[in-house]
Amino acid sequence: MQALTRDRAPAGRAAPRIGTSILLACLLLPAPPATWGTAAGGRTPEPNTLVPAGDTRYAPARYPDRIIATPASDPARGMLVSWRTGPGVHAPLLELVLAGDSPDTGVPRRIAATTRVYATEHGVAHAHQARVAGLEPDTLYGFRVQGASGWWSPWRQLRTAGGPGDALDFLYFGDTQNKNASHSTRVVLQALRHAPRARLALFTGDQVSGGDGEDDSEWGEWFDAVAALSSTMLVAPVAGNHEYDKAFEDTPRERRVLGTHWRHAHALPGNGAPGAEASSYWFDMHDVRFVVLDGTSALELGTARSQADWLDALLRGNPRSWSVVAIHQPMFSPRRDRDNALLQQHLLPVIERHRVDLVLQGHDHVYARRPGLVPGRATPQYVVSVAGAKQYRLSERARAEMAPVAEDTQLFQVVRVADGELRYEARTATGRLYDAFSLVGDGSDRRIVEHVEGRIPQRRCGRAATLKGRTDRCWE
Ligand SMILES: [Fe+2]
Repeated sequence: MQALTRDRAPAGRAAPRIGTSILLACLLLPAPPATWGTAAGGRTPEPNTLVPAGDTRYAPARYPDRIIATPASDPARGMLVSWRTGPGVHAPLLELVLAGDSPDTGVPRRIAATTRVYATEHGVAHAHQARVAGLEPDTLYGFRVQGASGWWSPWRQLRTAGGPGDALDFLYFGDTQNKNASHSTRVVLQALRHAPRARLALFTGDQVSGGDGEDDSEWGEWFDAVAALSSTMLVAPVAGNHEYDKAFEDTPRERRVLGTHWRHAHALPGNGAPGAEASSYWFDMHDVRFVVLDGTSALELGTARSQADWLDALLRGNPRSWSVVAIHQPMFSPRRDRDNALLQQHLLPVIERHRVDLVLQGHDHVYARRPGLVPGRATPQYVVSVAGAKQYRLSERARAEMAPVAEDTQLFQVVRVADGELRYEARTATGRLYDAFSLVGDGSDRRIVEHVEGRIPQRRCGRAATLKGRTDRCWE
């Protein structure tokens, strides 16, 4: 967050008054250097987690935690629920009821989870996943999950997806990655205020930073940060490069492997691209086909072609009116020296050919939007956004070719698809409107309507270096 005195007052609200004596003092003092806010100013970099290194607050326990529901390929009929406990818990139950106004839930339907054992920095954990099927569309269900003997989670409520023709609100978040409890929490809470009817939250990868020996605490803080969403709606995760580990590190056999935490944290529909089955998937929700790609696998594990063929088939057979593709690494990077050539070679032509409506991305820690390659065509709209604290700098090319763009800004996005219109809004962490447009018209002739009124001016990084002295980043 910025110091209060550097904030612009929200539109329609007066800026804080500055007393005359303070103003005079400010005028007499030398202007703060461009690097104000550095360690020289008495500030030190914030650690990546609020929980101190080595603290066991997030160790797996007897009670169930990290409860999260992801969409089945038909989220009107099913969902996939994951949770975690410590050792000693095998095939715990998920109890499901129709949500009602009485505390008497009635007799629940019971579904046994499958359990996998994995090692964490906090010791052995048990990951549980329950596949819930046979649900009714557009219906509010209550469910709870079991831990060790005597332990249950609180009841939580989640509405299944409706069908084609029903309005859909969903949220999209770029990288959260760092300092999740400290800085991502406010973005999530602000997003929920702007999308109280959202049924889905899409995270486009790098949920945590990882690799610091405190990964389990990072994941604990991520789940704390997103608790308001994961308790009330489906969450669709995208695997980012930080969700990957390295196997056989520093040997000739070194290669990327999908990280243990991500794999156990999320249950996926299992309908992914050949070679990327564990991290790509699709689902249809209301009038939208969502396809989640794995950019790291495409770039580093040789699956770009396979994912492109799979995407092509999914888009060719799309029975819904709209399409959204989510991938961590952008097709057009707004950062210097970060072209993702394999994505442009294999996936970009498919996205362009099928005129995907939205391509939602992360990875570059700035905000940037641009249309596709065909001049005058409204779709695809390619967006890069960032929810978390880490902030990079835009390339000059991005400033020239993309708009709007932003540095030094935490954002969330609300998308509403209803009545033949897809309306998109990007808002800052404080809720101010940063970008907005609508797509209208049928799939072969989409038009874009830019909503400029109410947007705040584009934001640039105002500091020369981070607290750690890095000049290639704006904040970390
Ligand atoms: Fe990334």
